[in-house]
Amino acid sequence: MIEQIKNAVLNKLKNDEIRLNHTLGVYETALKLAKHYHLDIDKIAIASLFHDYAKNDTIEQYKSVLTEDEIINYEAFPVMYHALSAAKQIEKDFNVHDEDIISSIKSHIWGKPHMNMYEKVIFVSDYAEPNRIFFDPNQIFELALKDIDLAVLKCMSLTLAYLDRQNIEPNIEQLEAYHYYMEVNSGKTQ
Ligand SMILES: [Fe+2]
Ligand SMILES: [Fe+2]
Repeated sequence: MIEQIKNAVLNKLKNDEIRLNHTLGVYETALKLAKHYHLDIDKIAIASLFHDYAKNDTIEQYKSVLTEDEIINYEAFPVMYHALSAAKQIEKDFNVHDEDIISSIKSHIWGKPHMNMYEKVIFVSDYAEPNRIFFDPNQIFELALKDIDLAVLKCMSLTLAYLDRQNIEPNIEQLEAYHYYMEVNSGKTQ
């Protein structure tokens, strides 16, 4: 199953070297965190490999996979389409129905309140993989080994700071997740 998914991802992203390297980086990073936290390695392997499967799909492809409500809900935040779309495709095309895998793929963009360990590991690995350049991925990885909730907050803060610099309004769900992890980590020192 994992080989089949890996091959499908390699094939799908074969013309986008950067995305492919990023995906393999997320995979390696997520596996290390999964081992550290004694998670099911297969689940983490599948979710990490597949998380950006739909990243380069066209709006027509998204519309063919997502519901009209989903398209409308995230019209101002189309980055969400690739996560929702990949989550649907792994169910439909690869017969994967595991809730941890599906929800980790869905929530990899902004995270969400009350994430479980699978969701946190995929969310953080998206930032902590070694090919990231606009912050130090290794610092996030090291933090994730020590305190994954702090690492989650760090990733959210980085994205919000980036949006702020670009004068882009965050999504309400993104802010909810951020405030939740502010609360979870309150009183801790980094
Ligand atoms: Fe993504
Ligand atoms: Fe990614």
